[in-house]
Amino acid sequence: MSNEQKKEENTEIKEKDDKKNKKEQEKKDEDALATQSALNEEEIRLMKAYSLGPYDDDIKTLEKGVKTRIEEIEKAMGIKESDRGLAPPSMWDLNGDKMALQQVQHVFPKHTSNLHSVYIQRFKKKKKNNNNNIKKKNTEQPLLVARCTKIINEGTQNPQYMITIRDIAKYVVDLGENIAPADIEEAMRVGVDHNKYKIQIPLPPKIDPSVTMMTVEEKPDITYDDVGGCKEQIQQLREVVELPLLYPKRFVQLGIDPPKGVLLYGPPGTGKTLCARAVANRTDATFIRVIGSELVQKYVGEGARMVRELFQMARSKKAAIIFFDEIDAIGGARVEEGGFGDNEVQRTMLEIVNQLDGFDARGNIKVLMATNRPDTLDPALVRPGRLDRRIEFGLPDLEGRAKIFKIHAGKMNCDRKIRWDLLARLCPNATGAEIRSVCTEAGMFAIRARKKMVTEKNFLDGINKVIKEYKKFSSTPKYMVYN
Ligand SMILES: Nc1ncnc2c1ncn2[C@@H]1O[C@H](COP(=O)(O)OP(=O)(O)OP(=O)(O)O)[C@@H](O)[C@H]1O
Ligand SMILES: [Mg+2]
Repeated sequence: MSNEQKKEENTEIKEKDDKKNKKEQEKKDEDALATQSALNEEEIRLMKAYSLGPYDDDIKTLEKGVKTRIEEIEKAMGIKESDRGLAPPSMWDLNGDKMALQQVQHVFPKHTSNLHSVYIQRFKKKKKNNNNNIKKKNTEQPLLVARCTKIINEGTQNPQYMITIRDIAKYVVDLGENIAPADIEEAMRVGVDHNKYKIQIPLPPKIDPSVTMMTVEEKPDITYDDVGGCKEQIQQLREVVELPLLYPKRFVQLGIDPPKGVLLYGPPGTGKTLCARAVANRTDATFIRVIGSELVQKYVGEGARMVRELFQMARSKKAAIIFFDEIDAIGGARVEEGGFGDNEVQRTMLEIVNQLDGFDARGNIKVLMATNRPDTLDPALVRPGRLDRRIEFGLPDLEGRAKIFKIHAGKMNCDRKIRWDLLARLCPNATGAEIRSVCTEAGMFAIRARKKMVTEKNFLDGINKVIKEYKKFSSTPKYMVYN
């Protein structure tokens, strides 16, 4: 008890001391404030001038003077505020400027003072620039499209060009300033100006935009490694497509013409389109992909015209591969009795035949066609000399099927110990597309079981579902009936 009492006493004493100390401190501060006297004028002036340079006041007054002087001058010259900044061209008042300039010259005859002349010079320069801009604008009128029908005095010093402007007239004209005589050929589309119809620019041949759209610009991401089996087919395809483009000399030396075109045929889903896409990926040639039905048009002659433009576009490239997918849409055999529409389709097909004859076999155009009804094609289309090589895409063999399984399962999260050979053995007569479907279904089974990995059991279920249950839908037997 006595100990606790002592402790309490001690704390009380401490608190009292603290209070005393605080009071003393406050008193001291108050005393210090009382002893400080107010600032005298000398000190205030010093503080005001603090951080100012010796000539600051003078400079300020001078600047003010200059400003007012400039304002006075501008008032006298009649220059508005916006004229000094970069006003948008729509706000330019050129006539007003002209008047103002005349007035300026009137008010200030030349060399009255240095500053004035500098201003006037600047003003004139600006006006000149404005005028130049306006002139440029005038020359940038849209050009007229004309056709250069004939070149008179070709190769001499001053050749003349006969041009036809549609719906207007024929003229004999000169070249514009920015164009060389070598650029212009007969029967070329050219752009001419409005005033003297001088030729200003050579134009590329007119090609239907829908035809231009068929060019495959981005290479597909399919490579030959993504095609399972089909080794022989790929080999044959590469022979026709790549060899002549890469080593044309070999054919010249041997004295043979390389095949112009290839027909790919086989049951649906065996990789015809896939192989063509792999070819497109490998070559640097322009790849043009046309789907047969795209060429069936509403109006008479449209389809044939599109084919012509297609080949014209291909010819204008360094090297081109044209791939007609599902050619049976237009390549059907000619029949005696047919409606109007069928006739049109036949005309389109005949135009293809015509174009196939038209280009040089050693040229840089190759034609691929894919179909799964080769029996319906017109004999004229597939005769040797047009489509020399015919490659059948059959059902993949055991090895091919295992490879296709691996390709499609490669992107999936699979168990390591899956026996691909066994799976391949379990689906005889399956096409590549069916095997792909099996893989997808196996994945679906794994998802349903809430697993993160696809097991062999899932694949077996997938095979059961796709190969056995969907047998009704398999297209291969139907294909076999026709061929
Ligand atoms: N040999 C193969 N290797 C890998 N995948 C294949 C193979 N064959 C087919 N496939 C798969 O099947 C799909 C369909 O194949 P593709 O489009 O090439 O069929 P197709 O032969 O053009 O059929 P169709 O005659 O009906 O146009 C491909 O996207 C691919 O995933
Ligand atoms: Mg296809």
